[in-house]
Amino acid sequence: MTELADRLHQLQTDALAELAAAADARAVGGLRASLFGRSGRLTTLLHDLADEDPTERPATGMLANAVRDALEAAITDRLAVLVEADAGARLADEAIDMSAPSRPWRVGHLHPTMTVERDLREIFHAFGFEVFEGPEIETDAMNFEALNIPPDHPSRDLWDTLYVSEADGDPRQPAADGTILRTHTSPVQIRAMRALTPPIRVITPGRCFRYEAVDASHGFEFFQVEGLVVDRDTSLADLKGMLEEFARTLYGEATRTRFRPGYYPFTEPSVAFDVSCLVCGGSGCAACGRSGWMTILGAGMVHPTVLRAGGIDPDEFQGYAFGMGLDRITLLRHGIPDLRLLMSADLRFLEQFPAGR
Ligand code: PHE
Repeated sequence: MTELADRLHQLQTDALAELAAAADARAVGGLRASLFGRSGRLTTLLHDLADEDPTERPATGMLANAVRDALEAAITDRLAVLVEADAGARLADEAIDMSAPSRPWRVGHLHPTMTVERDLREIFHAFGFEVFEGPEIETDAMNFEALNIPPDHPSRDLWDTLYVSEADGDPRQPAADGTILRTHTSPVQIRAMRALTPPIRVITPGRCFRYEAVDASHGFEFFQVEGLVVDRDTSLADLKGMLEEFARTLYGEATRTRFRPGYYPFTEPSVAFDVSCLVCGGSGCAACGRSGWMTILGAGMVHPTVLRAGGIDPDEFQGYAFGMGLDRITLLRHGIPDLRLLMSADLRFLEQFPAGR
């Protein structure tokens, strides 16, 4: 046997061993290139055939062909085995156990403020009020002027306003088109009066916005429920009776109530409505500033100018209105110390109210 024949045998032995050790199709591809590539190990030996002694060349040539065929066949077989094993492993990996029990659904729940809103909707529904909603983006005309608050009226200080289209990049400066984020739900009074014919009996829950420095008891974003009643012979006594009934329904029969004079440009007379302190029951504590009382809403008889802005004749109809914040009701209900938690979207906080209560 010639030296070249020896090297061919040796290459076959080596290559078959390497092939057996190749763990995946990539390794086999590398091996194939190292054998059959342009300067591959087998290619080089085939070139050397040209220098073989002419008497030996046919035999060595046949051997070279046999080695090449054997290696090609071995590579094809090995690839087939590897591809199949790979597919099998993937299938096993991705197998779905149809009999496995499903994971329990994570059921969401209402935000505690929305639970308060639902409770109020329910109470006022029982009192004969229907729900009437208005937009969060309003105009100055609706949020202020129709409510008897002309431009530059000093009472505007009560409602620090965020302007949607701001002048000179300052959200406290109105642009000419007067678009704002509503500072209260009272503009919905106007919308309701224009859309409905008396007798009107609506509540208007919704989100409001004010330019506030945010702290534990002030947010720039909060929720109100407004109420509006317009009918013939509606009186302050009706408002009083309804609110007393409302407070006892929400906070229990033992709740004491009182009215104090208040001021709003859109009601005349205006009142503040207090309930006995929800923390101490009236004996005086830090939560009620030692007074024993908590103011829960503002209210009053709808100002004739406001009725007129709503398209209603004040000589024929009277109305009362009230507005309250939901966020404080929520804080008091759960003993939550900081208003900012309500808007935090922090699940560690929110998941403490799983039943929505
Ligand atoms: N809109 C008033 C506020 O935001 C509340 C209010 C509503 C007062 C209706 C009287 C009548 O403070």
